[in-house]
Amino acid sequence: MFLSLRGVTKRFGAVVAVDHVDLDLTEGEFVCFLGPSGCGKTTLLRLVAGLEMLDEGEILLEGRDLANLPARNRNFGVVFQSYSLFPNMSVARNIGYGLECRKWDRARLETRVAEMLDVVGLGDAAGKHPHELSGGMQQRVALARALAPEPAVLLLDEPLSALDAKVRESLRGEIRELQQRLGITTIMVTHDQDEAMEMADRIVVMNRGRIEQVGTAEELYWNPETRFVGEFIGRLNILDDPALRAGLEAAGADKVLAIRPEHVALTDTGALEGTVHKVAFLGNTMRLGVETQGHGQGQGIEIEVHGRRKRLKVGDTVRFDLPADRVRELAASPA
Ligand SMILES: Nc1ncnc2c1ncn2[C@@H]1O[C@H](COP(=O)(O)OP(=O)(O)O)[C@@H](O)[C@H]1O
Ligand SMILES: [Mg+2]
Repeated sequence: MFLSLRGVTKRFGAVVAVDHVDLDLTEGEFVCFLGPSGCGKTTLLRLVAGLEMLDEGEILLEGRDLANLPARNRNFGVVFQSYSLFPNMSVARNIGYGLECRKWDRARLETRVAEMLDVVGLGDAAGKHPHELSGGMQQRVALARALAPEPAVLLLDEPLSALDAKVRESLRGEIRELQQRLGITTIMVTHDQDEAMEMADRIVVMNRGRIEQVGTAEELYWNPETRFVGEFIGRLNILDDPALRAGLEAAGADKVLAIRPEHVALTDTGALEGTVHKVAFLGNTMRLGVETQGHGQGQGIEIEVHGRRKRLKVGDTVRFDLPADRVRELAASPA
């Protein structure tokens, strides 16, 4: 195994920020740590980087325990959310900074910096200073700086979350493409499920310092093991409305029945009936909030329909079915 985390635990006073995490990464893999704010993503990344000390457990790189290897000797490239470039240094010097620290000779350093400027498409900006660059460009510089010393592992902490939606979208693709071209093992922290699904080979869903589930985007989407994962990857209806549960098998103890909005079948012959109380037009998708008969506001179900021309409106009555093979039984509480 390339990078292994074994029982990794970190406490801050009474807070267990990272709680016995086990994880294996293969070389060249792109893994995302995904979860809500405060679930321990950054702390786990910083433990890997050597910027925090473990309370328990071990981290191994190609079988070698990193415990006594300080951050600067790990040769891991790190990029944070805030660009954290040196404001008084040119782009080229920012990128070459890590190489200066490692005492690369001048010629080799300059070749490498030129190479990295090229890799991130900033050849023309070599002499500029960070404040002259857009946020997206600054983050490209931060990426080039992290990659310049040919790190064994690239660690990214929400590198896109400070950027505009458009820039964020294009950088997602660029970072993924670059990562694959270089074949560099990468861990990226994000709270954005779309970002994780688009970029990662595998997603590690975290909740309260622990791993809920690890899998490809497809695996997590089709086979979430817990309610938490089902709600974090995609959208999910929890079927606790009695009107909707008629005809379904009862959920086991500590389980919930759930169905994704796009799996609810809207059909005139449907066995269930409800009133539309909310319509969101999302282009090819229409998302409906549907209230079931005889129950108050808040009871009901979300339904998504694709490629439908006829627009439904608030107050319309709709009929639908919950296909048995689409209804899932999920663990109600964290794993
Ligand atoms: N330096 C610190 N001192 C005290 N508590 C911390 C520190 N860093 C993180 N925490 C706590 O650890 C938990 C996990 O934080 P963090 O790893 O930053 O989560 P995330 O990156 O998922 O938002 C939170 O409860 C946070 O308040
Ligand atoms: Mg964080």
